[in-house]
Amino acid sequence: MEIIKVANAEEGGKKAFELIKEGMNNGAKVLGLATGSTPETLYKEMTSSDLDFTEMTSVNLDEYVGLGGDDDQSYRYFMNDQLFIKKPFKDTYVPNGKAEDLAAECKHYESIIDSNPIDIQILGIGQNGHIGFNEPGTPLDSLTHVVELTESTINANKRNFEKVEDVPTRAVSMGIGSIMKGKKMILMAYGEAKADAIKGMIDGPVSVDLPASALQNHSDVVVIIDEAAASKL
Ligand code: GLP
Repeated sequence: MEIIKVANAEEGGKKAFELIKEGMNNGAKVLGLATGSTPETLYKEMTSSDLDFTEMTSVNLDEYVGLGGDDDQSYRYFMNDQLFIKKPFKDTYVPNGKAEDLAAECKHYESIIDSNPIDIQILGIGQNGHIGFNEPGTPLDSLTHVVELTESTINANKRNFEKVEDVPTRAVSMGIGSIMKGKKMILMAYGEAKADAIKGMIDGPVSVDLPASALQNHSDVVVIIDEAAASKL
């Protein structure tokens, strides 16, 4: 893993943007995208740049079960709002959290990933080491699946909802195996709350107990972190 230390999220967003730009210059056509507060500075860089994404495809990591794209807490809404409205892409994929048959949606989404191989995968990390919504215990070769969110993730994400009862308890998420299919990984983390997860991801054993540790088995991973997230390394 290549570790790049930055002063703050703004600098981290700039760094990740440079890597995406370089990747696109070298032919990258598909970006794997993430939600959460971490990639927001990257999306700001993308929207304020003069880069053209109209030939690009994006594939997002996950979506809450039960929320549609017009719900402002959904990840589809977040992506439209933060990025796609300002920078149109050719195609943008986010799992359908309102699918009636969720098992079929998971299969369908995995086929989208296989037909649009991800050149650059953007990742954040949960405080418990989750990537996408792959909570501890998720098999490292898992494909797109329905996830029961842990209490710690529901609590961490409740800040975006009016009350904790409003936070969905399930999500459709790319699996760890689906994520690992991507050619290049860029994982960003800022703040002390991520320090333990970053330490485990980099120095700990590869284990289902800390899903992001699977990235130790990937040959091209760039980790962009600030001093606080790096404080336990
Ligand atoms: C959610 C998302 C993850 C994200 C994580 C961290 O659980 N499913 O993709 O990495 O939150 O969010 P934040 O960047 O807001 O800390």
